Amino acid sequence: MSNWTDVAAEADLFEGAGIPVAPGGLDIALFAVDGEVFATDNICTHGHARLCDGFVEGHEIECPHHQGRFDLRTGDATFSPCTEPIKVWPVKVEGGRVWLDLG
Ligand code: FES
Repeated sequence: MSNWTDVAAEADLFEGAGIPVAPGGLDIALFAVDGEVFATDNICTHGHARLCDGFVEGHEIECPHHQGRFDLRTGDATFSPCTEPIKVWPVKVEGGRVWLDLG
């Protein structure tokens, strides 16, 4: 079942950087890359680091703690020490707002 939830203004996003949002107490990071928006769980699966504070390189987010990486499109871990994927959330942008399907 879909549950589209308004989480941010499109204008709050910065190309190549992440921002945190907390719909319903969840901790999610939004990233804008090449005009597309991606949403992932904000906490790294390797440790308690916030990916919104990491570095975007292409479609990857580099964790600020040990420099592990994830693919923003799939959540797959792409560079050690990260091995467990992060959850990715369906995103749509409508009416200048960013919506996530929280399911
Ligand atoms: Fe993210 Fe270690 S906490 S790579």
